[in-house]
Amino acid sequence: MCNAVTDHAIRRHAAEGVNTFAELQARTGCSDCCGACEPEARQCLREAISAQPAVLSFLPATA
Ligand code: FES
Repeated sequence: MCNAVTDHAIRRHAAEGVNTFAELQARTGCSDCCGACEPEARQCLREAISAQPAVLSFLPATA
């Protein structure tokens, strides 16, 4: 992607909780000029989000 944003960086932000393209743009500045890399960045984010393990928030926390 442009602005030196890598697919690795997108996966890392997704792991940190980023789940919208707007949030990814705000954090990284990716795809903010011509838009040519936006489809690739969106696809990378979608794949990173879907690769995240599900959070089982209904389970009680263990001590
Ligand atoms: S190449 Fe990324 S917005 Fe232009």
